[in-house]
Amino acid sequence: MPSPSQTLVPSRLPLVQAPMAGGPSTPELAAAVAAAGGLGYVAAGYLPPEALRERLDRTRALSSAPIGVNLFVPGPREADADAIARYAARLAHEAERFDVALGDPVWDDDAFAAKVDLVASAGVHTATFTFGPPPEAAVATLRRAGVVVGVTVTSRAEAEAAADAGADLLVVQGTEAGGHQGTFDPGEPNSTPLLSALEAVRSLGLPCVAAGGIATAEDVRRVLDAGAVAAQVGTAFLCTSEAGTSAPYRAALLEHRYADTVVTRAFSGRWARGLANRFALEHADAPGGYPQVHHLTRPLRAAATAAGDPDVPNLWAGTGWRSVRAEPVAEVVRRLTADL
Ligand SMILES: Cc1cc2nc3c(=O)[nH]c(=O)nc-3n(C[C@H](O)[C@H](O)[C@H](O)COP(=O)(O)O)c2cc1C
Repeated sequence: MPSPSQTLVPSRLPLVQAPMAGGPSTPELAAAVAAAGGLGYVAAGYLPPEALRERLDRTRALSSAPIGVNLFVPGPREADADAIARYAARLAHEAERFDVALGDPVWDDDAFAAKVDLVASAGVHTATFTFGPPPEAAVATLRRAGVVVGVTVTSRAEAEAAADAGADLLVVQGTEAGGHQGTFDPGEPNSTPLLSALEAVRSLGLPCVAAGGIATAEDVRRVLDAGAVAAQVGTAFLCTSEAGTSAPYRAALLEHRYADTVVTRAFSGRWARGLANRFALEHADAPGGYPQVHHLTRPLRAAATAAGDPDVPNLWAGTGWRSVRAEPVAEVVRRLTADL
């Protein structure tokens, strides 16, 4: 009989590949993690439903192992349009430099309902949500389809709301994490370290997957000892051959081009941790407003990446980024689970 935690994290090893929307997540990455004994994830964020279907099909073609999918819960429509317009004016010279127009700062729901329906019919093991608890209807649809429901949380209050929403599993994210913070209230950045967050939610009794800054075998051991059923790792996979990380992003990580990471809203209007490149440092006072700011800066970030310039795009990275190596997935998994 599998133990309850194995049913919820069905891989041989208690290691989960973090979903990484925006390029790094690929079917090849998810399949390679699964082949190495971990749980692979498909990142549904930003993808139109047809593209998500293709990713799911391709992942299935590469692996018959259980897989997870991650979705962004739509946020509030309201944003300070004047502040975003002032930010756009400040970015005009950057856009000129790359000869692109800034994007329209529009709100959208990332085709949430269509993607939930798609995920429910795709035979995936788990669906996790970030940026908030999933609506009741989404949980009901996934439940009927036998899909395990997980919610990213950063605090006790969010964990309680996730439990009320019907979560089977919590993904507890510490401030160390690379990428967007899963905070339900986009107003304030999360500054709670992972081990404190795990401690704060423990008494709720839900299985917890721990995420944020996990970069070594000792880090994995530490979160398991703190009661997590698995460690979820993103940054450590960014420079694997199977990831879709762009060339300038990889080089910035591997060559230690920037001194540190920083939590910023400059790229997307939502707090996220990335390498402290010029854009992040110059726009430390950028306004909130997700996904409006994400859409505004997107053409600029894409053009800079295409031009090989790492000073402008978002280079999401967790605090363990200095341990990142250019290795195949199997080697990263072996290294991270060496103490188990
Ligand atoms: C490039 C990148 C993209 C990410 N995209 C997502 C995402 O689409 N959905 C999500 O829930 N978390 C996302 N995250 C956060 C991860 O789920 C996880 O919390 C984080 O990677 C853990 O910290 P680490 O990067 O230090 O391992 C992303 C992280 C990175 C580095």
